[in-house]
Amino acid sequence: MKRLSKIILASTLLTATMAFAKDAPKDPTVIARVELMKIVGMNTKVLGDMASGKAAFDAAAAATAKAQLVAATAEIAAKFEVQATDPVSEAKPEIWANWDDFVAKAGAANAAATALDASTLDSVKAGMAGIGGACKACHTAYRL
Ligand code: HEC
Repeated sequence: MKRLSKIILASTLLTATMAFAKDAPKDPTVIARVELMKIVGMNTKVLGDMASGKAAFDAAAAATAKAQLVAATAEIAAKFEVQATDPVSEAKPEIWANWDDFVAKAGAANAAATALDASTLDSVKAGMAGIGGACKACHTAYRL
């Protein structure tokens, strides 16, 4: 019985590993930029959940999320500068054909994050529109 459950566990882990290997990028440059976008996404979610009422407003958590979002969006251009491809990447080649525009859109996201006032629920709500618009502007143009 113990042995059987070990076998089941081992095969479950193997399946999980295979699924991960199939979906995750392998190119180190692509991994780094996807990791950066995940940080951008996580911190935007913290603020967005407070703005929508899904999470209670927490001024300290909002300030931390804002600071991390400002720092992460400031790194977008550097993390995307080298054109790298990966079968699972969602980055369009247009990024490097329109590099100045991509950098401008990264700058707009950083400016929107910087402009967000994290001190009250109302100011977070007010700031989220600009941030969401900046994410969307770049994703619409440059993400599959
Ligand atoms: C200047 C362009 C740009 C801006 C601004 C931008 N993104 Fe992205 N984002 C991308 C690109 C390109 C990808 C696809 C990267 C890849 O797959 O190689 C991406 C991917 C993502 C992903 C998927 C990561 C994964 O797990 O594969 C998330 C989540 C994300 N962005 C969230 C955000 C949020 C939230 C914002 C706004 C705060 C934002 N992004 C702003 C260009 C941008």
